[in-house]
Amino acid sequence: MKISASILAAPLTQLSTILKPIPSSAIDYMHIDVMDGNFVPQISFGEALTGEIPSITSIPLDVHLMVQNPEREVPKYFAYKPEYITFHIETTHFGVRLSEEIRKNGSKVGISLNPSTPLNTIEYLLPYIDLILIMTVDPGFYGQSFVKSGIEKIQRAKEMIGSRPIALEVDGGVTLSNIAQLHKLGVDICVAGSAVFKTGDPAENGRKLKEACA
Ligand code: DX5
Ligand code: ZN
Repeated sequence: MKISASILAAPLTQLSTILKPIPSSAIDYMHIDVMDGNFVPQISFGEALTGEIPSITSIPLDVHLMVQNPEREVPKYFAYKPEYITFHIETTHFGVRLSEEIRKNGSKVGISLNPSTPLNTIEYLLPYIDLILIMTVDPGFYGQSFVKSGIEKIQRAKEMIGSRPIALEVDGGVTLSNIAQLHKLGVDICVAGSAVFKTGDPAENGRKLKEACA
């Protein structure tokens, strides 16, 4: 199991002190939750803060864009060479073109869906993407509970992926108590905000989440 640590749940004024000592053996990706106050009611941060992260840590970026108009926003992140750039299917009718643009600029493509969005809306994109990010909370905040429909949707997503080279990522409400079940269902990457940053030591927390799946 790979862990993508959501910095939304970290104290933003202390990012450098907190992220610097985390080894890549404990956390696989830094998950950057960009919120525009439009697609979701909250505003978090954007490309300026994202651009600071590579000077703090060499752990690869997993950028999750919860924004309207991804065609305009996505290119702002190319300069920081994220491992993944993920946009929401609810925000665009031009997913093929946008996916091709992301790949052409050197990042892998992720597509995300809210709990309210059916899986068949992303079926047409399967040949163009590298990752499916299933939201297991309504996006907007860290610290919410895993939605009850999440497990069944993950199972169906896994079936839909089949043998395609597409990673399955789950975001929202991942804890030490449910991560082993997600691992058994074939989830490749779990986003963890509260579970990494809200208590104790982030590196230790990352290791524990991985160990729970072993
Ligand atoms: C929710 C964000 C998540 C969130 C995860 O809108 O996309 O990445 O920060 O936080 P936890 O793990 O606390 O649910
Ligand atoms: Zn996220």
